[in-house]
Amino acid sequence: MSMSSVVTLQRGATSVVFDHSLPMPAIAHIGAAIDGFDPRALGLPVAHATLDAPAPIGVLTENGTGFLGRPGLVGSRPDGSAWAPIFTTVANEIDSDRARFELIDETAELELVIAVEITESETVSATLELTNTGTTDYTLVRLSASIPMPVHATELVSFTGRWCKEFQPRRHDFEALSVIENRRGRTSHDQLPAIFAGSVGFGEHHGDVWGIQLAWSGNYEIAAERLADGRRHVQAGELLSPGEVVLAPGASYRTPAVVVASSQAGITPASQQFHRHVRAQNPLRGDRKVILNTWEAVYFNHDLATLRSLADAGAAVGVERFVLDDGWFGGRRDDTKGLGDWWVSDEVWPDGLHPIVDHVVALGMEFGLWVEPEMVNPDSDLYRKNPHWTLTTAGYQPVLGRQQLVLDCGRSDVREYLFERIDALLNEYAISYLKWDMNRDLVQGSNHRSVDDAGRAGTHGHVRGVYDLLDRIRAAHPSVEIESCASGGGRVDLEMLRHTDRVWTSDCNDALERQAIQRGFTMLFPPEVMGAHIGPHRAHTTHRVQQLGFRTATALFGSLGIEWNLLDADEDGRTQVAAAIALYKRLRPLLHSGNVMRFDHDDPAALVHGVIAGDRTHAVMAYVQMLPSITTAPLPMRFGGLDPDRRYRIERIDDLGSADEFGRKRPPWMNLERFELSGAQLMRSGLQPPILHPESVLLIELHSV
Ligand code: GLA
Repeated sequence: MSMSSVVTLQRGATSVVFDHSLPMPAIAHIGAAIDGFDPRALGLPVAHATLDAPAPIGVLTENGTGFLGRPGLVGSRPDGSAWAPIFTTVANEIDSDRARFELIDETAELELVIAVEITESETVSATLELTNTGTTDYTLVRLSASIPMPVHATELVSFTGRWCKEFQPRRHDFEALSVIENRRGRTSHDQLPAIFAGSVGFGEHHGDVWGIQLAWSGNYEIAAERLADGRRHVQAGELLSPGEVVLAPGASYRTPAVVVASSQAGITPASQQFHRHVRAQNPLRGDRKVILNTWEAVYFNHDLATLRSLADAGAAVGVERFVLDDGWFGGRRDDTKGLGDWWVSDEVWPDGLHPIVDHVVALGMEFGLWVEPEMVNPDSDLYRKNPHWTLTTAGYQPVLGRQQLVLDCGRSDVREYLFERIDALLNEYAISYLKWDMNRDLVQGSNHRSVDDAGRAGTHGHVRGVYDLLDRIRAAHPSVEIESCASGGGRVDLEMLRHTDRVWTSDCNDALERQAIQRGFTMLFPPEVMGAHIGPHRAHTTHRVQQLGFRTATALFGSLGIEWNLLDADEDGRTQVAAAIALYKRLRPLLHSGNVMRFDHDDPAALVHGVIAGDRTHAVMAYVQMLPSITTAPLPMRFGGLDPDRRYRIERIDDLGSADEFGRKRPPWMNLERFELSGAQLMRSGLQPPILHPESVLLIELHSV
């Protein structure tokens, strides 16, 4: 091998170095640019009792070359052949920040295209595309790209959770084989397509870190594998059911993108790279509006007078968009029936939605509407007419989830029906927002498309179909924003965030839970897409009772809304909500464009986080007392990411009502008329918080002087 067989891509601080000395390109380095990186430095000796040449970790790992870990391609022809191909590069196009390799295996009659680019946000994105050039079908079971990790990436952080407790990071060793498998047909609450690998003990601001996300909203598998020789890789791709993707002669399959962020200073900078990725692929169109969502206020009880009063109360506190949730259509008076019948119900809305839409618009707010297009209740006109539109398997009783079935959005007639219905609603009413829900896991989902295809697994086709439908609606109604919801945060991923604008993070509005959920969320996605609503005094999903100041200070850091019957709030409560909304509007430009900081903090009873403007002249920080501290006074908070050479004026934000202090005396700095510190001191030495009751937040604003 010579240095001419090294391909280096670079953009900003990120580089990808390919070892191209073998027929299959392999990533030798990914992350911080290293001048003149030479892959020969890591070439392996041949160990006893191993094959004569150590196999590389190719972008596609190949059993045929002697790679003995997980193969990147699993598939075969009807006669069982072509199951272990070996590809050879026949052409490539290399630019400074992107590479495209074309490979073939003449024996297996397969073609492979590998495309890797460093995006403008300096993430690395890789996709594979396989084409069947033979004369028989090729059944594909796996096509997954491999991203090698250095041997010192010894720990992993992946995400688990459940309904009302999404985005919970968990740490484990990067040993043997760890596989995240999701078979729920949606991104899921419990197996996110995301993983961080890093050096021992990596934290928010220390350690080498690589973050890997698969941009896909259906089934997937992400494997972190340590090989016998100590090398490591993370392999990510769609999880296909047997027979789900069969490539006819000439047909191709393209993988979802594997997106990699990297940092030499902990998780937070890698998260910021992911945030820039989302911001670049789907830029905000104006300010993120303050929402009032009716679900927890009225549930299915759609009473015009109440909803009008609720809209009045919302407008009075500064709400900018009123979203009418479930219950407005067909026979949908509870969650047992009606899904699929997307006509405004005469029973509850005899004059259509006009009386509420017009009222909301007259108040100067926008109107949003809940839909769950992919679903059908067996008790619906749509199902009675088209039972074969569902993803179910003939001969079996389908498993219901929330009394509903999934429509096969892989079918063009289903997409046509749904488009026509949604388009008609958007044309008839001044709707500027859709809350697009998806409330069940998809199991045993076979399609009934044609006699040939009936019984074939349909998740892949469904997910692609949903993306198509979303894109078609957006193209026809470009000013309409779409929120992705799946029983809260059950479908949040990089690809869904290309086709939608915001997500409903969780059905849990308990601020204590939300602090943890939102912290996990921002490890992967930016705050402006994170629906964060002020809930009622007593949280509906946990029954915890929380002060309004804690609830507002928690929701402030996302895309703010209200999920509460404001008509239950007293005058004082409404004044506090109005102040929170005003504060949000003032800080919104910073919160939705700045760098999100999650600080490591020495007290497990508290969380410290904030947002620092790109130019580091302005920041807002939150000290969150989650539980009572074990120390007599809480520990100082240190704010990395500031400019060490600037001085900052430190001001406590009191707009949300004072944080719930109970110390006899505040820390002295809080009694000073004016207080300034250098960035260096704030970063390295820190600032003392007051003694707070649990479940309260101290907000601090920093301005450079
Ligand atoms: C799901 C959503 C909720 C609400 C209900 C309506 O559970 O997560 O926010 O929209 O559906 O049925």
